[in-house]
Amino acid sequence: MKKEKELIKAAYEAQKYSYSPYSQFQVGAALLGEDGKIYLGCNIENAAYSPTNCAERTAFFKAVSQGCRTFQAIAIVGNQKGMAPDYCPPCGVCRQVMAEFCDPEKFQIILARSLEEYQIFFLKELLPFGFGNDLLCSDKE
Ligand code: THU
Repeated sequence: MKKEKELIKAAYEAQKYSYSPYSQFQVGAALLGEDGKIYLGCNIENAAYSPTNCAERTAFFKAVSQGCRTFQAIAIVGNQKGMAPDYCPPCGVCRQVMAEFCDPEKFQIILARSLEEYQIFFLKELLPFGFGNDLLCSDKE
């Protein structure tokens, strides 16, 4: 199976766990680490709204907290319950989290609205002229 298809399938698996009682917008993400592992994430909402975590960040935080800090690609699927599927581009905060750990020229963002229909972007296309850790003097450990 092509890498993209495998990741999209995994993102649909993750979407099943979406906790989104407020928006009914269900998002799933599958993040491929340089270690070859796939980290899954779903959106997790909160009654106070702002603590809500997007699916992409759930996947990143799971991976980083398990020791993986370099990544190849992420597949994202999302749609409002009962609505026709469409592409779900990552929010600005998630793009910034991607920029922390991913090479903007190489990291691929796969947006799918079905197993057959998907578009692939490089991070640099979705976050041009972003603020990066190269601007800070601190050492990345
Ligand atoms: N959401 C994501 O999980 N990822 C995105 O990139 C966009 C938005 C979630 C957050 C919230 O639970 C719901 O979608 C509606 O905004």
